[in-house]
Amino acid sequence: MPLIEWTDRMSVGVEALDSDHQRLIGLLNQLDAIIQGTESEAALPGLVHELVRYTTYHFASEERMMRLARYPGLDEHLRAHTDLRRRIVSFEQKFLTAPGTAADAVPLFEFLSEWLTRHILQEDMRYRPYMVKESA
Ligand SMILES: [Fe+2]
Ligand SMILES: [Fe+2]
Repeated sequence: MPLIEWTDRMSVGVEALDSDHQRLIGLLNQLDAIIQGTESEAALPGLVHELVRYTTYHFASEERMMRLARYPGLDEHLRAHTDLRRRIVSFEQKFLTAPGTAADAVPLFEFLSEWLTRHILQEDMRYRPYMVKESA
């Protein structure tokens, strides 16, 4: 059973960004499955890499759309993205130099699941009215 579930109340009003968020939540649930032992630990390095890659991709799309919608909170939002990107890249680098076990991924999972749900529900949600107006 997935630990974190995407629900309608997480919708930011743009289908492409909602589906990015769903994919990110899917990756986090996969990380949880590895930690719980229901998925093989061998998938861990690839998954950590995919989390970094997909987060970078998603942030870039989201930033581009916020710019197009002339979202006034862009600068603050960019700072939040930069901060998270830095943290997960540094986690991945640490992980690459000293490949860990599933237990070592627990802090990453806890940090990311907390950060991601809070970021979607609070910060991403603030651009919603601007994006919806744009696509109307
Ligand atoms: Fe965001
Ligand atoms: Fe987002």
